[in-house]
Amino acid sequence: MTKPKRVLFVCLGNICRSPSGEGVLAHVVAERGLSQRIQVESAGTGAWHIGELPDPRSRQAAARRGYRLDSRAQQVQSADFDRCDLIIAMDRDNLKTLRAMDPGGRARVCLLSDFLPPGSPIDVPDPYYGGPLGFEHVLDLIEAACEAILAELT
Ligand code: 4NP
Repeated sequence: MTKPKRVLFVCLGNICRSPSGEGVLAHVVAERGLSQRIQVESAGTGAWHIGELPDPRSRQAAARRGYRLDSRAQQVQSADFDRCDLIIAMDRDNLKTLRAMDPGGRARVCLLSDFLPPGSPIDVPDPYYGGPLGFEHVLDLIEAACEAILAELT
C-alpha cells in the first residue's frame, strides 16, 4: 500500500472556507472509495478559533448539499509543509502568509482557484461578515475545483 496523499485546505479562521473545502473533498474522496489513498485536512493562518467547530452558517449550507462539516479548527504548523503533499489557500492573503512561513517543505502550496477554469475568481471571498449567499458561493467554488484537485492527487 503506498503512502496516502495528504491535502490541507487553508483559510484565515479555519471555521468557514477551509473546513468547507475539507468536508466537500473528503465527501467526494469517500464516495469514490479513495479514503485510504487521500487524506483531507484544514487549518487556519489565524489562531482565534482553535478547537471550534465550523461556523453554523457553513455547517448548515454544507448540510443542505449533503456534506458534514465536523472538523475542529487548528492553526497551520511549519511541519505541515513537509507532512502534506498539497496545501490549498483560499485567497491570496492566505497564500502570502503560507509562503512567508514555508520552511521549504515538500508540499506544493497553491490557490484553490488554480483548480478552477480560466476566468474564475482568484480568491474565495471570506463569507464571515456577509450574508447567506457568501456561504453558497464558497461551496460553489469548492465543488467546481474538486475534480481538478483529485486529478492532481490520483
Ligand atoms: P474563514 O472565515 O477564514 O473562511 O474561516 C473567517 C472566520 C473568522 C474570522 C475571519 C475569517 N475572524 O476574524 O474571526
